[in-house]
Amino acid sequence: MGGERLWYERDVERVIVTEEQIATRTAELAKQVSADYQGVDRLLLVSVLKGALMFTADFARALGRCGTPVELEFMAISSYRQGTTSSGVVRILKDLDRDIGGAHVLVVEDIVDSGLTLSWLLKYLASRSPATVEVAALFRKPGAMRTAPPLKYVGFDIPSDFVIGYGLDYAEKYRELPFLAVLKPEVYRRVGG
Ligand code: IMP
Repeated sequence: MGGERLWYERDVERVIVTEEQIATRTAELAKQVSADYQGVDRLLLVSVLKGALMFTADFARALGRCGTPVELEFMAISSYRQGTTSSGVVRILKDLDRDIGGAHVLVVEDIVDSGLTLSWLLKYLASRSPATVEVAALFRKPGAMRTAPPLKYVGFDIPSDFVIGYGLDYAEKYRELPFLAVLKPEVYRRVGG
């Protein structure tokens, strides 16, 4: 196998955030969250599938290292997209499994682009009467400034290119890559038609 190019090398144009940078920043965010939620006995991470899968797993373990107990809930939502742009129309594919009334909720998001998906989600969660709701998003694009839902914890501000890896997909591919990268334009032509 040695000497062969990895399968994704022909598709990836450049890596924007490395595996090491993600790990370091995740640990920093966990430290900050641990300090902010000291004394809170039930911090509920609400992870937004599928994109936030990797970040949630690493972030929860980083919080564990800081000694902060968390519980995990998952929602799966699909934001209708036109090409690579969010439309703000959201469909729930998997709802919360339990009552979040009175809970301290921390939404764990992969990426905030326009912020439309997150705005919708925050309204939805607020209608279930949690004690508090904050957001931890690993990546934020410049477009998020326009709609600006309150993002208390942000990992990286990145350019507005369409990115893949570390949970993020293009046509359900590339989620398993441990870094964040930009695809070569020809991939969109090949996969997206
Ligand atoms: P928004 O509603 O524009 O903020 O888009 C949010 C959702 O779109 C994210 O949760 C991702 O699922 C997806 N998304 C936004 N930008 C990208 C990207 O660059 N790559 C992959 N998915 C993205």
